[in-house]
Amino acid sequence: MTSTDIQFDAQGQLKHFLTIEGLKRDHILQILDTAQSFITLAKKEIKKAPLLRGKTVVNLFFESSTRTRTTFEIAAKRLSADVINLNPQHSATSKGETLLDTVNNLEAMHTDLFVVRHPNSGAANLIAKHVPPHVRIINAGDGRHAHPTQAMLDMFTIRAHKGDVANLRVAIVGDILHSRVARSQIHALAALGAAQVRVIAPKTLLPTEVERLGVHPYTDMHEGLHDVDVVIMLRLQRERMNGAFVPSEQEFFNLYGLTADKLAYAKQDAIVMHPGPMNRGLEIDSSVADGPQSVILPQVTYGIAVRMAVMALIMGGKPVARKRRGNRSTRGSDETTPA
Ligand code: NCD
Repeated sequence: MTSTDIQFDAQGQLKHFLTIEGLKRDHILQILDTAQSFITLAKKEIKKAPLLRGKTVVNLFFESSTRTRTTFEIAAKRLSADVINLNPQHSATSKGETLLDTVNNLEAMHTDLFVVRHPNSGAANLIAKHVPPHVRIINAGDGRHAHPTQAMLDMFTIRAHKGDVANLRVAIVGDILHSRVARSQIHALAALGAAQVRVIAPKTLLPTEVERLGVHPYTDMHEGLHDVDVVIMLRLQRERMNGAFVPSEQEFFNLYGLTADKLAYAKQDAIVMHPGPMNRGLEIDSSVADGPQSVILPQVTYGIAVRMAVMALIMGGKPVARKRRGNRSTRGSDETTPA
């Protein structure tokens, strides 16, 4: 069974959230619209909804993380769940316990939802296949494979700042080869019918036959950034490289680092995104990271609402009624109510 099949129940509703592959446009819009209602909640004095009251959420992070783990924790707490954070790398796993034994033990404590980050591709799928039917799994990043909630918060950011994704040219720049974020973004942009998706990197950091994913590859920033609406920068994933993929950091910055000069190739009102952690002076210059076109910090804020939406939907929140919306309609909308 593939992760695409395993994440749906018999009625075709999302049960686990493992990958963007196989999601339809409507699934994605349902999550984005539900997230919009949680943005409204975050502006209230009491930022809590009772949707996960009495539920236990375990953040099971086998790899380090700042933004993703913290925003998942805040998201679960805003939904009134009890949340435990675990880094088994430093406890059970270091004592030789297998992944599934760790999960079995936590499941014996009546965990309802596991949020899993793991250095190996397929770890979240393995757990999803193993747990009893009432337990839910969210993939918070597995190896190079997928990081679906990051892609969802990126889609939310694009919609909030640039309107309908279908009208937009998007460039993803940097270490595409090792990036689970890029893979999930490419699937999400395809499902939302983006006008064009480009990937820009040295040949050594582009997957072979990347065109098969429906993207246009470029090795030159001037050509690749020409007239794009959205620029997404990625970090060099050194922890996933075996050997040198770029001749030198200085040369990589000279050719691919996003400076104000290079950003000028994109549309004048293009936005700049980055999933973090950023390496200033390597893939992005501070003048751009902190500049007026950057939406890097709003991405983090939206991440809470998007993760709340995913948790609420897979834990049995009823689908929200979607209203037709045009460009920029995610701004300030208060029309959806999570069940
Ligand atoms: C990304 C990840 O972990 O895949 N970061 C994140 O989740 N915010 C990207 C990265 O580590 O470069």
